Amino acid sequence: MLPNANCLFVAVLVVAATATRIAVESKLEQSKLEHPQLDLPSSAQVAGRVTTDGLVKWSSTGAVSYKKAKFLYVTAVSDHNIHFQEKPKSGALHRHTTFVGWNNLLTGTVTRYLFVTDYDEEREILSWCKTSTEPRDKGYIDPFVEVEEKFRLESALGPVWSWKLPKKLTSYGTQLLADMYTEVDGKDTINATVVSTRDRRNSTYTAEYSLHAQSALSDHDSLIYKYLDHSCETVSDFRNVPEICVDELLAVEYECGYAELQLQ
Ligand SMILES: *[C@@H]1O[C@H](CO)[C@@H](O)[C@H](O)[C@H]1NC(C)=O
Ligand SMILES: *[C@@H]1O[C@H](CO)[C@@H](O)[C@H](O)[C@H]1NC(C)=O
Repeated sequence: MLPNANCLFVAVLVVAATATRIAVESKLEQSKLEHPQLDLPSSAQVAGRVTTDGLVKWSSTGAVSYKKAKFLYVTAVSDHNIHFQEKPKSGALHRHTTFVGWNNLLTGTVTRYLFVTDYDEEREILSWCKTSTEPRDKGYIDPFVEVEEKFRLESALGPVWSWKLPKKLTSYGTQLLADMYTEVDGKDTINATVVSTRDRRNSTYTAEYSLHAQSALSDHDSLIYKYLDHSCETVSDFRNVPEICVDELLAVEYECGYAELQLQ
């Protein structure tokens, strides 16, 4: 009697779970059809680290921030202080990296900047910036939305949703795997992991998010206008600039891989 009741209970749960998931997935399918739409992740603090073959190479603390301005622009900031456990070629102990994105919704172009400053104890030893302007994929309101949509919903049960990037062979010959845990609706990222493998060796980037905010962070604008004080070298894109690999959206967009996550 009891085992049967249990079986029935489990069967009801499975049916309910499947129904929920189908509902969620069809909602997701619908939202995909409704592009372009504004569907950026929320701003948050982020703690990251990179491990290569089990050894921590660097760890970081920072923030990501997004802002929509007057229907003309979407601006994004990814700002991090990196602490190197293994020094890069510059001899740096610390690095401050600021990525800035200006997505012009009218012209459909995205201008991006990457500012990198390396420090030894406290002294600045190297500082540079690069910029690129690329056309935006017409199907998406923002390049980060395009990256987010590469993740497939794996499970949407309970308060945590899990997402997976289908296994991908990059043009660098590395294999890229990524997963992401978010709160319900996928807007607030809880954590993300990007694993890059080549010749049975791997690098793992892990990010943990906290203090989500539905609006941009308070220093968003001052970071966004940082480019005004600099003249940056123009590059065609950031694909061969490994210093760009500071959060999972950038890591997936630029196919950051084993070699790229290794220290430059
Ligand atoms: C990555 O390499 C480490 C150390 O060799 C190993 O313990 C781990 O299982 C590997 N992870 C993946 C996802 O391949
Ligand atoms: C990410 O969050 C999920 C859900 O809270 C948890 O199960 C998982 O262990 C976390 N992963 C990492 C790498 O922190």
